Amino acid sequence: MRVIIRKTYDEISAEAAMLIRARMLRKKNFVLGLATGSSPLGLYRELIRLHRQEGLSFKNVITFNLDEYYGIGPGHPQSYRYFMNENLFNHIDIKKSATHVPDGLAKDFEKFCRGYENAIKKAGGIDLQVLGIGSDGHIGFNEPGSAFTSRTRLIALDEQTIADNARFFSKKEDVPRFAISMGVGTILEARELILIANGTKKADIIARTLEGPVTSLISATAIHFHPRVTVFLDEDAASKLQRVGYYRFAEESEKAIGKEIF
Ligand code: GLP
Repeated sequence: MRVIIRKTYDEISAEAAMLIRARMLRKKNFVLGLATGSSPLGLYRELIRLHRQEGLSFKNVITFNLDEYYGIGPGHPQSYRYFMNENLFNHIDIKKSATHVPDGLAKDFEKFCRGYENAIKKAGGIDLQVLGIGSDGHIGFNEPGSAFTSRTRLIALDEQTIADNARFFSKKEDVPRFAISMGVGTILEARELILIANGTKKADIIARTLEGPVTSLISATAIHFHPRVTVFLDEDAASKLQRVGYYRFAEESEKAIGKEIF
């Protein structure tokens, strides 16, 4: 696992965008897994800038989002489809038909989830999946206790998640109680993962994820089973890690050898 620590959120956002650009340029029909929440916003801003100012094209890119609230539609301002359109898709040259976000209104959700998994397979699998992390360690909406082998499914949200996300809705009761989310197993099948976290409120969960025991009670610890992960942290999010010195030293060593070392 590579751990990249920078002073500011803007710096990690720019570095994450550079990594994605490098991967995109290497492969036609790149399949990009996307996340919502505030953590990847800086990355999306930077990808838009690279598109506008440096001609980075998303014409042949296919995207799959991790999750969507269940019970609200794409026109709802808090839906993840709406978020993605507003914060990324509307500002780049991606084909809307190549962007996939789970359908929060799917009546037969089991069938929908099977179809989502099949669509990922049909696209050739996800080349790189972007992850944020919830305060309880969830990735996507895989709440504590989600099996590491779990697949795309309907999941009941944790009360903590509902409380965390209440700020985006007019009242707590309006926060959906369910979501459709890729499973931990689905996420682990992506060829590469990047996880972005910033701010002191993520310091605890980042320390437990990177340096604590692997447990399904912290879904994000599943990243230890993945061979190609880069974690981008600002100094606040990294502030409770024990081995900061090592991560910085390893990054220097990586530069010396001129290759990414996972
Ligand atoms: C939501 C999303 C997650 C995201 C998390 C953290 O629960 N489903 O994918 O990682 O929020 O959000 P933020 O980045 O705003 O802290």
